[in-house]
Amino acid sequence: MPTVRARKIYFMSLLENIKSCDVRAGVMGLGYVGLPLCLEFVRAGYHVVGLDSDEKKIESLGKRSSYITDIRDSELIEAFETGRFEVTSDQSVISTVQTLNICVPTPLNKSGAPDLSFIKTALQAIEEHQTPGQLYVLESTTYPGTTEEALLPALSRGGTREVGKDFFLAFSPERIDPGNPNFNTHNIPKVVGGVTEACTVCAAALYGNCVDTIVTVSSPRVAEMVKLLENTFRSVNIGLVNELAKMCHNLDVDIWEVIDAAKTKPFGFMPFYPGPGLGGHCIPIDPIYLSWKATQMGFKARFIELADQVNSSMPQFVVDLVVKALGDQGKPLKGSNVLLLGITYKADVNDVRESPALDVWQLLEDWGARVEYHDPFVESLLFGDRERASKSLAPVTLQEADCIVLLAAHKSLDLDMICDHSPCVVDTRNALKRDSANEKIYKL
Ligand SMILES: NC(=O)c1ccc[n+]([C@@H]2O[C@H](COP(=O)([O-])OP(=O)(O)OC[C@H]3O[C@@H](n4cnc5c(N)ncnc54)[C@H](O)[C@@H]3O)[C@@H](O)[C@H]2O)c1
Repeated sequence: MPTVRARKIYFMSLLENIKSCDVRAGVMGLGYVGLPLCLEFVRAGYHVVGLDSDEKKIESLGKRSSYITDIRDSELIEAFETGRFEVTSDQSVISTVQTLNICVPTPLNKSGAPDLSFIKTALQAIEEHQTPGQLYVLESTTYPGTTEEALLPALSRGGTREVGKDFFLAFSPERIDPGNPNFNTHNIPKVVGGVTEACTVCAAALYGNCVDTIVTVSSPRVAEMVKLLENTFRSVNIGLVNELAKMCHNLDVDIWEVIDAAKTKPFGFMPFYPGPGLGGHCIPIDPIYLSWKATQMGFKARFIELADQVNSSMPQFVVDLVVKALGDQGKPLKGSNVLLLGITYKADVNDVRESPALDVWQLLEDWGARVEYHDPFVESLLFGDRERASKSLAPVTLQEADCIVLLAAHKSLDLDMICDHSPCVVDTRNALKRDSANEKIYKL
């Protein structure tokens, strides 16, 4: 057990070293969240050690080749050239760092419950290589209580190490919005909640050197809940607008025109847009973490469940529109050629995780359609039991299809060509605005 004096020194020296950027900062998990964080830490002046269990990612970084759309190869080259950035899959580096940000995935398991297995595996590695005086910050989105209920007991080693004295622990949700050119790790305010005051101070100092605004809260539980409030807010509002979009179809009203007019109100309204369903690693998953935790406490999260039901029904609604579009041409869905444009979960990213386009695709194939896709961000992917490759987009590709379904409105898609050469288009993103009166365009 360290002496009282040693413990005091851990805090003082960690804080001093962070403030003067004299730390080896570890980042565990080099995906959409961890890699941009590494680059910010390098820019701040830290010596950064990126750790990922996926050898392919380490190899790719070794070749200075970025696998994340928002990060250019030149940014990687710049980071490595400082001599303060190294990446590895060797977990023993954990013993060499003073701070460690944990950015591993938090998906759902097959029965739709939170899957904390990545956090648990990360924790095992930390327990094995833990050294006194380290700061650990969990960034993975999870239900309120995870930091204190899952991480704290393990890191305390049966009460032999005291948090806030022998080690430091905080939660800080990542709030990045991939593909958003205006907001990034540097200028999105960072919420930080430590288990003790000393933990909050150290974690806030770590981010303070590279993030414009730090917002400290009273506990990790509050910080965990902040992230879930933000994403539940989005999920519920998207659910509402998706339901209104369906309602507007029955009323013969254009939902997009309604939203455009409503958003001119300078207060009390924030626009959300309908779409083919939720996708990505956050909005479809995070609210389920919260409703799962609520259920454990005997509380039913009705808004979350309702929004989930409405949002999950959107791929079928898109397929219904395809059936109508084909029907208007006298064609059945079975045997028709359908071309999907953009299969990522949103525009201008290369991420297909939870993408509603895959649900639309599956439903179309289940009903006998012949489906192909074009996506400038996804060269190929395994779908069902086959590898599928993106078709190049040319007038003839459009003309050969019986129906086009626009699912992700990537900036690089040639909308004029799509309008001019498609037999009919189901536009789930209101991208083909210029031709809204065109009868061959079916909007959500
Ligand atoms: N992607 C987003 O837009 C976003 C935004 C905010 C929050 N989040 C949250 O951040 C977390 C990470 O998300 P992501 O999108 O970066 O995931 P990701 O899958 O892109 O990256 C996670 C990385 O962790 C690595 N990994 C897994 N276990 C590991 C271990 N034991 N040791 C080292 N590396 C390990 C994986 O190989 C992977 O490269 C999730 O909880 C997610 O919900 C994501």
